[in-house]
Amino acid sequence: MSQNILITGAAGYIGGSVLAAFISQETGALCTATLHAAVRSDEQVQALSKLGINIVKVDLDDEGAVRDVVLNNKIDIVVHTATSILPRPAAHLITALGERRKATGGHAYYIHTGIATMYSVEGGWKDGEVRDTDAIYEYDKEIEGMNPARQTSNVVVEQAAIHGVKSFNIVLPQIYGRGTGEWRKLSVNYPAFIRTSIEHKIVHKFDVDSNPPATHISDITTLYTLLTSACLQGTPISSGRSGYYFAVAHRAPQYLVMDLLARGLHERGLVSSPTARVWPSYDAAAKALGWPALYIKAMGTFSGELIPVNPGKVGWRPQWDEKRFLENIDEEIDAVKELDTVKSTLFANV
Ligand SMILES: NC(=O)c1ccc[n+]([C@@H]2O[C@H](COP(=O)([O-])OP(=O)(O)OC[C@H]3O[C@@H](n4cnc5c(N)ncnc54)[C@H](OP(=O)(O)O)[C@@H]3O)[C@@H](O)[C@H]2O)c1
Repeated sequence: MSQNILITGAAGYIGGSVLAAFISQETGALCTATLHAAVRSDEQVQALSKLGINIVKVDLDDEGAVRDVVLNNKIDIVVHTATSILPRPAAHLITALGERRKATGGHAYYIHTGIATMYSVEGGWKDGEVRDTDAIYEYDKEIEGMNPARQTSNVVVEQAAIHGVKSFNIVLPQIYGRGTGEWRKLSVNYPAFIRTSIEHKIVHKFDVDSNPPATHISDITTLYTLLTSACLQGTPISSGRSGYYFAVAHRAPQYLVMDLLARGLHERGLVSSPTARVWPSYDAAAKALGWPALYIKAMGTFSGELIPVNPGKVGWRPQWDEKRFLENIDEEIDAVKELDTVKSTLFANV
C-alpha cells in the first residue's frame, strides 16, 4: 500500500525545493509514495496546483485543521519545513501522527527542520565542538530558557516519545542557492545581505569576522530525500533523542564572502564601492536586514563547531564545498535580481 507524505511549508524556499526533489525522483522508495503539500494561501494553492499532487491549505497553528489534514489524507510521514521557531505546529503535527499510528498499528515518522545557530556560542550553546551524536536534547533542555527554536526542538523529542512517533531533526546552517519550488525561491541570509546592499548602495559586514557552516540547497534536498526514503523503507536510523542530523557541508568565511559580494555588486553597478564596510551598530544591521534584534548577533556573527556524523550514516555526501561556493558567489546576486518577488514572513511572529 502506498504511503502518504505531507510536506509543510511547501510554498517556502526549503519546503518548495524539498517537494520538487521528491517529485523528480525517478527510482527508489519515494516513487511509490503519495505526496501532499501544505501551504497557507489560495494564491499558493493555485501556484502549486500544476504539480499534479494534493495541495492543502492549512494554518498549522490550528490543531483541529492539522488533525483533519493528517487523518483524512492518511499521512504516515510529515516533513515539516514551515517553521523551526514555533512549537505549536510541530506539536499538532506529531499529535495527529500519533493518532494515525494508533489507527493503523504501523509506524509514523516526523522530520523536523532545526536551526544550526542554536549550537554556537552566539546562539547560547557552550564553547567547542558539537557533534550531532552528542547528548543534544539533554543540553538543549538544560539551557532552553525562552529560546523558541530550542523549545520547539525539545517539544519534537518529547511529543514524539509520548505519541510513539519516530522523530528526526535536520539542523540547517546558512542555506544558499536558487530554490526549485513554485513560490519563494530565495533563502534568508545571502538574499538579505544582497537586497540590503543594493538598497543602501554599499555592502556591510559585521564588526567581527566569522566562519559559519553553510550548505547548498541541492545538498539539503538530498538529505531530506535520504531520510524520507529510509522512513519509507523502514530502515532503522537514529531518531528521537539521537535523531539530530547536522546538515553541514562546509564553511562560509564571512569577510571574504562580503568582499566577493561587494566586488560582484560593484561590477554590476549596484553598489558604490568594491569593498565591504562595517555596520555602524547591530541595531542598524537588524533594522536594515529585517532580522529580529534578538537574533542579529547569532545570525550575523556565528561560527559554531558543528560536526555532522548522522547524515553520513544515511549516505549523505554533499556535492558543494567551500571552493565551489566561493567561485559561484555571483550566482547569489543574479538570483536575487531575478527571483526576489515574494516577501518572507519568517520573522513575522518573533
Ligand atoms: N533558509 C535558511 O537558510 C534556513 C536556515 C536555517 C533554518 N531555516 C529554517 O527553516 C524553515 C524554513 O525556512 P525557509 O527559508 O524555507 O522559509 P520560508 O521560505 O519562509 O518558508 C516557510 C513556509 O512556511 C509557511 N508557514 C509558516 N508558518 C506557517 C503556519 N503557521 N501555517 C502554515 N504555513 C506556514 C510560510 O508561509 P507564507 O508563504 O505565508 O510565509 C512559508 O511558505 C524556517 O523555520 C527557517 O527558520 C532556514
